[in-house]
Amino acid sequence: MGKTLGVKFLKASLLYFIIGVTMGAIMTIGSIYDFVILSKLFERAHAHINLIGWVSLSIIGFIYYLILGNPGKPLYSERLGNMGFWLINIGICAEFIALLIGGYAQASSFQAGNYVIKMLIVIFAFVMMIGVYFSVYNIYKTLNR
Ligand code: HEM
Repeated sequence: MGKTLGVKFLKASLLYFIIGVTMGAIMTIGSIYDFVILSKLFERAHAHINLIGWVSLSIIGFIYYLILGNPGKPLYSERLGNMGFWLINIGICAEFIALLIGGYAQASSFQAGNYVIKMLIVIFAFVMMIGVYFSVYNIYKTLNR
């Protein structure tokens, strides 16, 4: 069961990684960037979906998969494990939506900046994002083998 729960956490973390980096890349686009920096809540939404959704859930997933998935260390409670999984995921999604709505409500004006630097930020953000897509696809396919 540890392995199964581990795979669930790892798959969820990959999804949040995709959402987090996609949001990060979109946040760098000219007028969107000017809008999102008007509220700390957008950055907070991005940081949390990445740090809790991707980083923390992947660590929990690895713990379940590698340590608790080991036959010598059977899982303490399947029910507790599943409840933890759903509570964390509902919390992450609800918090993310709340932060986005809060950010939208808070941000209200437009700011301009250097065009070339802004273009470079957008280009490399999307390069990173595509790199993450490739890596996530590779890991996902490996997990499903
Ligand atoms: C393609 C990948 C990513 C892109 C394009 C991206 C882009 C951004 C942008 C545009 C900001 C706002 C910066 C500003 O206010 O000027 C930001 C902030 C932040 N990002 Fe990302 N990000 C990416 C991935 C990640 C990942 C994987 C993590 C964590 C695991 C992360 C954590 C953070 C944090 C903590 C902040 C807030 C920094 C602060 O408070 O100053 N980002 N990111």
